[in-house]
Amino acid sequence: MRIAVCPGSFDPVTNGHLDVVERASRLFDLLYVAVLDNSRKRALFTAEERVEMLREATAALDNVRCETFQGLVVDYAVQRGATVIVRGVRGHSDVEYELNMAAMNRELNPGVETLFLPSSPRYALVSSSLVKEVATFGGRIEQWVPAHVQQRLLSRLRASGGSDR
Ligand code: PNS
Repeated sequence: MRIAVCPGSFDPVTNGHLDVVERASRLFDLLYVAVLDNSRKRALFTAEERVEMLREATAALDNVRCETFQGLVVDYAVQRGATVIVRGVRGHSDVEYELNMAAMNRELNPGVETLFLPSSPRYALVSSSLVKEVATFGGRIEQWVPAHVQQRLLSRLRASGGSDR
């Protein structure tokens, strides 16, 4: 079985993430989409809420499992029997950070390889942070996130007094 993990913050999942997940799911027998559960990093959604949104968005992909993880991603990969970490790369601004992380992960465990998937050009500018920023000021986000994520995002922002809508 070829098993991979696709780790991230996913706060919340965007269509750019989903494009990478869908393409990666065709390369592996089993793909774990893993939300880092890190209480030190402030997030809009809890790790469980982020997993719920991912599960709904990937429901049609039979070989994809969504869950949280804690600690080092290489250790989590080993626990799941995965030999590959998949990361989407949008452009040169992502490359330095991603190369550093891949190099560190390789130091930590040379048995786990990192695979970069280039973002589809139409999602090259999408990030969870920009989607949250645009939504906060009442801009349109329906082209960047699934409808159920948009609803959750707008209601969370409304509840926290952060949306003009
Ligand atoms: O979506 P993000 O925030 O770019 O994802 C970053 C993530 C979660 C992949 C990365 O921070 C991570 O793997 N954290 C777990 C701790 C770890 O293993 N760090 C890598 C060694 S530098």
